[in-house]
This record gives sequence, C-alpha cells and structure tokens, in this order.
Amino acid sequence: MKKIILDLKKKKNKQKIVSLTAYSKNVASILDNYCDIILVGDSLASVLYNYKSTREVSLDTMINHSKSVRKGIKKTLMVVDMPHNTYRNSKEALKNAKKIISKTRCDAVKLEGGKKVYEIIKTLIRNKIPVMGHLGLLPQSDKTFKFKGKKKSERAKILKDALLLEKAGVFSIVLECVESSLAKIITQNIKVPTIGIGSSKYCDGQILVFDDLIGLNPTHYKFVKKYANIRNEISKAVSNYSNEVKKIKFPNKKNSY
Ligand code: KIV
Repeated sequence: MKKIILDLKKKKNKQKIVSLTAYSKNVASILDNYCDIILVGDSLASVLYNYKSTREVSLDTMINHSKSVRKGIKKTLMVVDMPHNTYRNSKEALKNAKKIISKTRCDAVKLEGGKKVYEIIKTLIRNKIPVMGHLGLLPQSDKTFKFKGKKKSERAKILKDALLLEKAGVFSIVLECVESSLAKIITQNIKVPTIGIGSSKYCDGQILVFDDLIGLNPTHYKFVKKYANIRNEISKAVSNYSNEVKKIKFPNKKNSY
C-alpha cells in the first residue's frame, strides 16, 4: 500500500485527519497545504451542476474534475468518488475503478455502502486499488436525507457494516450524518480511521464540502460551519467591477497595451 495511505492510518488516535472536497485545480492547490485527504466528491452534482441527486453524475464528469484537481495536488491523498451505477458488480467496479485511477492518477476511490459492496470492495483491494468506505447517510441510494442511528436496528447495522468494511480492507471510512454516540462506538471499534461529516467530534477526522466551508453555497446545513462568507466577497468585487466598467474607470492605462 502507498506510503501516503499508511501514514494516514497511523494518525488514528494520534492526530485528527483533515479532509475537504475539491472539484478543480485552483481550489485543490490551496487545500494541498492544509489537508490530509482531498476528495473529488460526487456532491459536485448539486454544488456545481444543480442536479437533484448525486445519481445523475456520470463517470466522465467525475474523471474530468478529478484530472483538474490532480493538477493542483502535490502531497495530499487524493480520493475520487465512484459515481452511482459504476460499481453494481465486481467486474463493473474493477473496470471503472481502473479507468478512474489511470485517467486521473488519484490514490484511491470511495464507494458507498456496507454489506452490499463487501465483495466488490474486496475485489478492488485484491487488485491493489485502495478503497475508502462510506456509511451512514448514503446520498446515492437513500430516499430521505435524515441523520442515521436513531433506531437500535439501524445502529446495529451501521456498526456491523463498519466492521465488515474494515474486514474487506478499506483504509478509512466516511461516516455521514451518524448520531454522535454511534460514531464514537464505531470509531472505537475499528482500526482504520473514521472521517465524519455531520458525525461529531468523536471521528478520527472531519470532511466538509469546500463550497459550504467558505460560504459560497447559500444553503444552510446544521453540520456545516461557515469559515468565511465568500458570497459577500464575490458580491463586493463584482459590484466594484461593474461600477468601474460603467464609469469607464476600468480598464485604465495600467490595464491596457
Ligand atoms: O460527495 C461528497 O462530497 C462526499 C462527502 C460528503 C463525504 O461524499
């Protein structure tokens, strides 16, 4: 396994793991200075394309954004989401994961699900493709977007799935919108790091969608903290530009040949 992935595993119980999504080179090149993992998430479906569901993202779209992200990364572990309907069986998953890795030169792929994808994940790992798991809220298959782990049966299933994914050989598991005490139990009971989104401080690391973190996405989610209000900054800049163009202040001599 690549050193960068082994280093990540070693961080469990020592240092929190910092992760963010990126969909393009310029953003990735900034995140590269601060993150352990950069994920080209299929959340780009709603964030960039205004699709209703991540199910609408194609493999080619994921590959194109990943190629751009790759150009901005020097040292961070790069993970790419396998989109919906690209891993319905082991043969299909292997073909598409190989395509993602060869075209984007990413370090690993991420798949959603537990027992259902156990054999598929084992096949990828047997073929030397590092895999990140994803449990809790599963945007590719869930009908409603509610936090997970309220019911006893649901809690038991998510914990069982986490143990199964660990057995399959994933190097890490994203826990999306998992109730805090359950996220803590899972994190304490598996050896690979858990990366939470809306799943409490008990996870080994955190991930957020970059556009949410900088306040570019106007939608509010309980689990997001906006560390900047980039919408305001962009508004100010564009308003200034608009005024200067109208008043013939831009371009001036310095901006002209
Ligand atoms: O697609 C995505 O951005 C994700 C994160 C929410 C973990 O899977």
